[in-house]
Amino acid sequence: MSFDVNAIREDFPILKQTIGKYPLIYLDNGATTQKPQVVIDKITNYYTNENANIHRGVHFLSQQATTAYERARTIIQKHINAKQSYECIFTKGTTDSINLVAHSFGKLLEKGDEIIISALEHHSNIVPWQFLVEEKGIQLKVIPMNDMGDIDINAYQKLLSNKTKLVSITHVSNSLGTINPIKEMIKMAHKVGAYFLVDAAQSLQHFKVDVQELDCDFMAFSGHKIFGPTGVGILYGKEELLNMLPPYQGGGDMIKTVTFEKTTYNVLPHKFEAGTPNIVGGIGLGAAFEWLSQLDLEAVKYYENELLTYATNQIKEIKDVKIYGEAQHKSSVLSFLIKDMHPYDIGTLLNQQGVAVRTGHHCTQPIMDFYGIPGTIRASFSLYNTKNDIDLFIKALKRAVTMLS
Ligand code: ALA
Repeated sequence: MSFDVNAIREDFPILKQTIGKYPLIYLDNGATTQKPQVVIDKITNYYTNENANIHRGVHFLSQQATTAYERARTIIQKHINAKQSYECIFTKGTTDSINLVAHSFGKLLEKGDEIIISALEHHSNIVPWQFLVEEKGIQLKVIPMNDMGDIDINAYQKLLSNKTKLVSITHVSNSLGTINPIKEMIKMAHKVGAYFLVDAAQSLQHFKVDVQELDCDFMAFSGHKIFGPTGVGILYGKEELLNMLPPYQGGGDMIKTVTFEKTTYNVLPHKFEAGTPNIVGGIGLGAAFEWLSQLDLEAVKYYENELLTYATNQIKEIKDVKIYGEAQHKSSVLSFLIKDMHPYDIGTLLNQQGVAVRTGHHCTQPIMDFYGIPGTIRASFSLYNTKNDIDLFIKALKRAVTMLS
């Protein structure tokens, strides 16, 4: 296994910044990751040399842009091991991908059909299904969690039935870091004939995810959390399933023929990509995956796990700290509170010392309700963070606690 964090850091120009007199310690990677120079260069080069609309022109630039966009799709396909590149639909991000499924798959549902989610979900994997409760009279069932932040698998087994049409679960909890036993859960769903959507917004940046090995039916993720640009993401879907679904949005590129009487739809992936897409975003995301693919992802996983253990051990030494999310399988997220100190106050004092963390409910209000708290302070680590970052974070945190005591 090989992993050189100093070499990795060289790829990220933003990390050289100072915030006032303090070096930037960026620990808000759950919200968005920073971008390597190759992604920044790809975007600059696209607008400098290649900009044109895709799939529409016979001219040189349009063909060049189309080739670059479709190449990006293939890079992403290879990384997640999809069978076909057209099983990877470009979307605006995880939220858009889940809304696409809720809209199109939802059209096939009837009153009384059931969808299962879990207590750990982000709002983007709750609200789109609630639309279907209102519109179609489907039932939304929620798998409970325990204090450690683990899903209750026995309860899940009991919720599954032949009424279950879809299970939609986060791979990794953005608030608590829990890594859910997705592979086992997918098998269980398939046994009752239900489809399975994996919300991979918080997993692909931490470890290798293989859609064929998991045998998931859909997978949603965002580019900006995987070292790529904002406003772009992917919905992976199995070919036969995507072919079965009606389109999401109507417009250019998603049609084969249009008359005022009848429209026929284009083939995959275009059927789900109406209008001019985020071309530069897609190309930038391809560059991000190309960058990620050349790393030893097993080594990355091991390294991030070490960072998490190091940070957890240090933070536990601070008096009155309570950690939220202590699942056995956890990604590099550390959510915590200190006594009755308000997360925003701590976050503000950390910021004054150059440390970027997220505070609040992290778009997971049901998790906060479960613990009876308004929110947490969340430090989320990425592959470019170091033990030195954690030392400086803990030092700043101790100072903040002293000021607030
Ligand atoms: N879902 C993102 C987060 O966890 C924004 O911060």
